[in-house]
Amino acid sequence: MTDIKVIGILGAGRVGTALARRALAAGYEVRIASARAPSEIALMMDFVAPGAVPATTEQVIAESDMVLLALPLSKYRSLRPEAFAGKIAVDAMNYWPQTDGVLPEFEGAPVSSEVVADHLAGARLLRAFNHLGYHELDAEARPAGDPGRRALAIAGDDAAARADLAVVIDRMGFDPVDAGPLAQARAFAIGTPLFGAPLGRVEMQEALAGQQAA
Ligand SMILES: NC(=O)c1ccc[n+]([C@@H]2O[C@H](COP(=O)([O-])OP(=O)(O)OC[C@H]3O[C@@H](n4cnc5c(N)ncnc54)[C@H](OP(=O)(O)O)[C@@H]3O)[C@@H](O)[C@H]2O)c1
Repeated sequence: MTDIKVIGILGAGRVGTALARRALAAGYEVRIASARAPSEIALMMDFVAPGAVPATTEQVIAESDMVLLALPLSKYRSLRPEAFAGKIAVDAMNYWPQTDGVLPEFEGAPVSSEVVADHLAGARLLRAFNHLGYHELDAEARPAGDPGRRALAIAGDDAAARADLAVVIDRMGFDPVDAGPLAQARAFAIGTPLFGAPLGRVEMQEALAGQQAA
């Protein structure tokens, strides 16, 4: 198991800054990049995620033990695969044609992360954080053991990376649920009953099993 100390976040919008707040509250160091120069988001970060260090995309990837992808899916090709070699990368991106525009490679692809994984060949690609709204990351974090604690699903082909992310999600205030290989992310994709549903760990495990059997 990797001792994750530094979490990098690509995307400093709604999801990226909410993830930054959760990671900081969990005691991680945070590096964060947007499409702009680090100096252009420094003041905003002081207000919305104090302690998160603005950096360039390259710095975020190089200096982090785990990189959360929270940029528009339409920008995934801007990510340089070489920079991600051996890195745990967590795809939080969803395909919304209304905002991303129609992207042919994602049309009919039940697991958009498989397309991202093909692009970032060499990364240890996981999918998580996609099935809840950014505001719920702040509002629904709970201590371990709280009966109202919400579950978050993790999928990816690298079991050790899934275990590392499970520790991070637990420290962020959610119950991690291992959904298995990346293809299993179809069970919590947009349009499934799990997407957006506030489920606890056991409900999530049952719902995943039901979806995977379907
Ligand atoms: N909104 C939700 O509740 C939600 C929930 C789950 C998943 N998601 C997914 O999460 C992703 C982000 O959504 P969002 O709502 O946070 O979007 P958003 O508020 O529009 O923020 C997008 C961020 O990505 C940055 N960005 C754009 N291109 C970049 C690049 N090449 N490198 C690094 N950063 C880049 C933007 O930088 P600038 O500010 O400099 O333009 C901005 O900070 C989307 O794929 C979305 O489908 C969203």
